[in-house]
Amino acid sequence: MDTPADSLASDPAALLRWYVDAGVDEAVGEHTVDRFNLSKTTAPSPIVAPRVAAASPIGAPAPTTPAPMAPVQDGGATHIAQAARSVPELRAAVESYTGCGLKQFASRTVFADGNPAARVMFVGEAPGADEDRQGLPFVGVSGKLLDRMLGSIGLDRATNAYITNVVFWRPPGNRAPTDEEIAACLPFVVRHIELVDPAVLVFVGGLAAKTLLAKPLGITKLRGHWYDYETPGLARPVPSTPLFHPAYLLRSPQQKRLAWRDLLAIKQKLDSSAPL
Ligand code: URA
Repeated sequence: MDTPADSLASDPAALLRWYVDAGVDEAVGEHTVDRFNLSKTTAPSPIVAPRVAAASPIGAPAPTTPAPMAPVQDGGATHIAQAARSVPELRAAVESYTGCGLKQFASRTVFADGNPAARVMFVGEAPGADEDRQGLPFVGVSGKLLDRMLGSIGLDRATNAYITNVVFWRPPGNRAPTDEEIAACLPFVVRHIELVDPAVLVFVGGLAAKTLLAKPLGITKLRGHWYDYETPGLARPVPSTPLFHPAYLLRSPQQKRLAWRDLLAIKQKLDSSAPL
């Protein structure tokens, strides 16, 4: 059977556009990939849920009953991540980790940007093409909007904000990361939060919120509430809240009103929480 690619073969420019539309925007990677041997290089593992208390509406104190923790079976990632005693040690551990299948398709590891001593930590979804090229999170079009959103409440990644993602490598063609890929990175993300120990934690987008809150709900249900994010490695629960992803706001600008409300709530929480 002919594919659209076959029928476009006589028009190379149209064929290229068809591939880009389908998400195939890089023909050759920097490293050779043995696609017949992928299963030997990836170590999928189940998602490890943090303890997260039930939601409270913005403005109300967060409840404190922790949710049950899922069993830890992750092929050693938790052990490696927990051995890191500082953010630079964790970065080195992530850079040498081979348990996430995404790594073999990516050009660079995208670990974090900003000030690790900041009182607020933002956790987004996955690096895109710009992030993969620069090795930094949120540097493309949606990153520019995120910077403006942060700026609107006096935050700036150069001084008082810290940004990372739930996966450290770009999924090919900008597809969503799979549960296995997220689970492979999660022990490092959890340790990252423990080491940064922010006063306020913000999940940028539905995927980050769902993953870190371990709740099977969409962002529209999750946003507008505060949650206590707890892990054994945190001295106390960290108030956390979701924020619409800037890529979603670019597609749905009518939601900026709610995003602005959430940004103000984040600022208020930062202003009212005691400096650590
Ligand atoms: N979107 C994300 O969620 N993270 C990035 O780093 C870039 C875009």
